[in-house]
Amino acid sequence: MSNETLMTRRGLFMKLGILFNGIVATALAVPIVQYLVSSVTRGRSDGYLSWVSLGSVNDFPEGETRLATFRNPYVTPTDGKTADTACWVRRVEGDNFQVFAVNCAHLGCPVRWFPQSGLFMCPCHGGAYYRDGGRASGPPERGLFEYPYKVENGMINIQAGELPTPGPSAALTTRTTSCA
Ligand code: FES
Repeated sequence: MSNETLMTRRGLFMKLGILFNGIVATALAVPIVQYLVSSVTRGRSDGYLSWVSLGSVNDFPEGETRLATFRNPYVTPTDGKTADTACWVRRVEGDNFQVFAVNCAHLGCPVRWFPQSGLFMCPCHGGAYYRDGGRASGPPERGLFEYPYKVENGMINIQAGELPTPGPSAALTTRTTSCA
């Protein structure tokens, strides 16, 4: 085998190595760059704050609280079923609703509604909330978080892209009194 052939083979493998490393580096860089610019691109897109329908108001009888689910508008292709989110819908009367985040205001465990006692109960540390979401007892320092909602054409819609938190856009109602 001549020196010229060896050099050619060596050069070929060198080029293949560089090409392969370039492909791997690009594949690794894409999610990193996406992560780094996500705060900017997310800020430019209001899609995650779009209104999401929970269904007809007739699905929620007056005076009752029912579980509803919606598809979180802020999803990525890999989210799958995890983007299906639950919330508690209380229809006070007419178009007057309260839509509660299912997560406890303490550490986020999903709360459950008990119509017999008129309380939301948290299974993790015993937090309890009145039917209007106000804190009843336990470690939570405030009531349940509420989604902004609106009723249009007989449908109830919520702004569901963000889990309600004590941020400026959150519906902060710190009821602590009973509404039994
Ligand atoms: Fe609900 Fe702690 S997470 S009481």
